[in-house]
Amino acid sequence: MKILALPGDGIGPEIIKQAILVLEKLRAKDFNFEVTTMPIGGAGYDSHGDPLPQTTLQEAKKAEAILLGAVGGPNYDNLPRSLRPEQGLLRIRKELGLFANLRPAVIHSELLGASTLKTSVIEGLDIMIVRELTGDIYFGKPRGRRSTGSGEREGFDTMQYRESEVVRIANVAFQIAQKRSFKLCSVDKANVLDTSILWREVVDEVSRDYPDVSLSHMYVDNAGMQLLKNPRQFDVILTGNIFGDILSDQASMLTGSIGMLPSASLDHSGKGLFEPVHGSAPDIAGTDRANPLATILSLAMMLRYSLNRSDLASRLEGAVGQVLADGYRTEDITEDGKETVGTSLMGELVRKAL
Ligand code: IPM
Ligand code: MG
Repeated sequence: MKILALPGDGIGPEIIKQAILVLEKLRAKDFNFEVTTMPIGGAGYDSHGDPLPQTTLQEAKKAEAILLGAVGGPNYDNLPRSLRPEQGLLRIRKELGLFANLRPAVIHSELLGASTLKTSVIEGLDIMIVRELTGDIYFGKPRGRRSTGSGEREGFDTMQYRESEVVRIANVAFQIAQKRSFKLCSVDKANVLDTSILWREVVDEVSRDYPDVSLSHMYVDNAGMQLLKNPRQFDVILTGNIFGDILSDQASMLTGSIGMLPSASLDHSGKGLFEPVHGSAPDIAGTDRANPLATILSLAMMLRYSLNRSDLASRLEGAVGQVLADGYRTEDITEDGKETVGTSLMGELVRKAL
């Protein structure tokens, strides 16, 4: 099995290192693999002048699964958009057809106190956000900058969804709902946007194939509010690329820290790229302060969704739960005044628990 590691920038290399060590711990006669490491994002730009070097893309196409750290950093802020680290990530998603982004927000009972929300609101929280990942205003054309008639600068982007793009992500969401509690909430802005009116129409059409799933629709502004007011009303949330980007960061904080949230980005056959929802956190890069658990939990998603080893995924998730139950915390999930462990010790603790 070929696994490609893409550490990227900022804290990426530190958290990927811990995740790979955890993966090594799982190596067995019936679980053999080969890990290749390649640059992406700012690291790709530094080494190859390209945030998605050709060699990285080629390896990605050959790999069974990809584990990614994070991209981006202040050194690259002034590059033209096509060379920015984020483009490496957006292009690899697009090139590999990774249209289905699964972002589970699950509260670990040990971390109830780490959230800024009341325990009574978040206890038992278990949401799955299904975010469309290769369309929408992220990729719509035309886009760019121009000068208006009066010589003013103007920026513009295009929000856009084709029917077939909505159908395939809706199918993914309905099927996930069938494996959970048969409840799906589709989030859009159909009171304002034509793209959303079509989105809602198509989701309704797809729903006829899933009569056992109860479908509701919600405007994105209300969804943002409801996520804070009563997050447990949600089970599976289906949404487009930009709304999903925003709502998934928001949902992460319900669970105490964005440092805990894994994600999977899958193509039509289940091959995928797995990455933490958090970013490259350049302010703490290289200081052994990052939480590696979102990446380690992304590894568990890789085992479950791409490598067909849900047994190992559950073992790994169990090990993370154990370390948290034993009271170990990185600084992002600690409560005031409690002692914390660093990135590498947290990784080691998970390996010991395994
Ligand atoms: C995410 C990130 C990316 C996105 C950025 C880094 C391009 O915020 O995965 O949520 O906007 O999709
Ligand atoms: Mg984001």
